[in-house]
Amino acid sequence: MTPPSAPSAADDLKPPPAWHAGRHLLSVTDLGAEGIEEVLRVSDAFVEVASRPIPKVPALRGRTVVTLFAEESTRTRLSFETAAKRLSADVLSFSVASSSVKQGESLRATVETVAAMGVDAFVVRHSSAGAPAQVARWVDAAVINAGDGWHEHPTQALLDCYTIRQVLAERAGRLVSEAGVKDFVGLRVAIVGDIAHSRVARSGVLALAALGAEVTLVAPGSLVPPSLEGWPVTGVSHDLDAVLPHVDVCYLLRLQTERGAGSFLPSVREYTAGYGLTARRAGLLADGALVMHPGPMNRGVEIADEVADLPRSLILRQVANGVAVRMAVLFLLLGQVVGGDAAGAVADLGHAAAGDG
Ligand code: CP
Repeated sequence: MTPPSAPSAADDLKPPPAWHAGRHLLSVTDLGAEGIEEVLRVSDAFVEVASRPIPKVPALRGRTVVTLFAEESTRTRLSFETAAKRLSADVLSFSVASSSVKQGESLRATVETVAAMGVDAFVVRHSSAGAPAQVARWVDAAVINAGDGWHEHPTQALLDCYTIRQVLAERAGRLVSEAGVKDFVGLRVAIVGDIAHSRVARSGVLALAALGAEVTLVAPGSLVPPSLEGWPVTGVSHDLDAVLPHVDVCYLLRLQTERGAGSFLPSVREYTAGYGLTARRAGLLADGALVMHPGPMNRGVEIADEVADLPRSLILRQVANGVAVRMAVLFLLLGQVVGGDAAGAVADLGHAAAGDG
């Protein structure tokens, strides 16, 4: 057994040379295809860590991660907090709704106050596009965008890509760690629903297209962004029935009524009639096609209850993989790796923590 205080690989650390992104993760474009592949590869090691009886490694011991959320969240917040704790970081959970912001303190003053406590990373969710980038200008810490307005949600795209890659590798009988990203080339993905208000859609399109996938947006005209400049999509369709037989992945989006999506539609019932993945429509999918959704789901609106629970639906697997992918992102931004192989170093650290290294 390695006692907790004994020197281990975690005590002799150097920067990860394979990390291609900068100091922050604000957009999928910070990563590019190489950076995305690196995150997916490092995530493999953390998926393995998650399967252990004690799913914890000492990689970020002594580091402090703050989750600063100015909007509601279940998955992203808990996932980042779980990820940071599994990396042995200290976690401060900061909710704007119960903070001095409510007493008139500016977001900048609040962020600088929290940073003064000694913070290595801020994970930021905000209703305004660009808020995490603004925070990055105010602090020395790394900043991760956990969803900003209608702009981006990069870690959602990364966990979605990880999940697709994992399932395709399993189906091909390959180890996911040997999968690379070649399965994305020519993969046909339909992103369906409220594209106009969706940060998930933008990050998803950028990540999938960077890896070589062909992405079609499917939505009523009123829920397609007025300009698709900067959206590397293959096409736009208003006919879900016609698209479904030809896709490998059907990715559904939540109708974001809190962002006004309802006012762009005659009625929610009409939306479901045209764009909901009902049981009948799910029957149009090819045998191996996957169904995905970032959550939270409106069952009975964009996805039927029985479709959400089909074996081809990956929704809970997406959530599970989110922890490992966010561990990878935190590790690559904050962690210090022995040697040049980040994923190998993660595994080594984990074995040391488990007492078998
Ligand atoms: N997918 C997602 O961002 O979920 P939360 O809003 O619950 O974090």
